[in-house]
Amino acid sequence: MRRIREFGYLVATVRDIDAWKVFAGDVHGMQIVEHTEDRLKLRLDERSWRIDLHRGEVEHIDAVGWEVRGPGDIEAIEKKLRDHGYTPHRATAEEAASREVTDYLAFEDPDGNGVEVYYGARRDQTPFISPTGARFVTKNMGIGHVMFAVSSSAPFRELYMDIFELGLSDFIDIGPDPGTFLHCNPRHHSIAFASRPGVAPRLGHLMVQVDDMDTVGRAYDKVLDGAAALGSTLGKHTNDEMVSYYVKTPSGWEMEYGYGGLEIDEETWVPGRWSAAHFWGHKRVG
Ligand SMILES: [Fe+2]
Repeated sequence: MRRIREFGYLVATVRDIDAWKVFAGDVHGMQIVEHTEDRLKLRLDERSWRIDLHRGEVEHIDAVGWEVRGPGDIEAIEKKLRDHGYTPHRATAEEAASREVTDYLAFEDPDGNGVEVYYGARRDQTPFISPTGARFVTKNMGIGHVMFAVSSSAPFRELYMDIFELGLSDFIDIGPDPGTFLHCNPRHHSIAFASRPGVAPRLGHLMVQVDDMDTVGRAYDKVLDGAAALGSTLGKHTNDEMVSYYVKTPSGWEMEYGYGGLEIDEETWVPGRWSAAHFWGHKRVG
């Protein structure tokens, strides 16, 4: 069984908290659990939070959080990280409390994005209530996936395949360097990355999945009516079969909002290689 169970949280520094509140809550149905001048905390399911945004001048990904089952997993991953030249930081009790987890390990990926490995995340006894009626598909699969534009794929393959031991889902030939798609649970991919000439390293998008195509369609209508800037039109992906659109978040990176993603059966899955990322749609407009 894999040590890494799911991509479970995202922490970021953003410039415009108020724009994010409208984008995440009113348009895309996430529950606002904390909103101040400096912070926006979002809930997608029974967890007390899934996305935590802090106000700052420089946009930054502070933590892509990966969930494990206990201290043994954290220690095993910490050792592997050190063996590969990383210098992870074990959270203090105060730091762990601020993430509402029991313990975590923090380090930076080869491009300086924050990464954390945690266990024992808080559940909330009150029901998740979406402002738009959205129901997010997260059970045993985490909040979704992230796709990064990276400076070089090799060190990212070392980190996520050799150290984290995520499974290869497939590749897509989206440029000279193929996109690498990796899974840790039935969700087709929890992280993907590719280096592309002329594209600076950054988070490309965060994908969240809802359980109803109409929820995607209603949010899409709001975006088309001007609630946010569309990045790509509605379309269907080849490798994970997701029907989705891409929209620019207030931070510049995009969010993919989708329905119907493929789930992997670990016993029978064989990685493939696709020549395109889309069956139809996903026309770039942004
Ligand atoms: Fe995606």
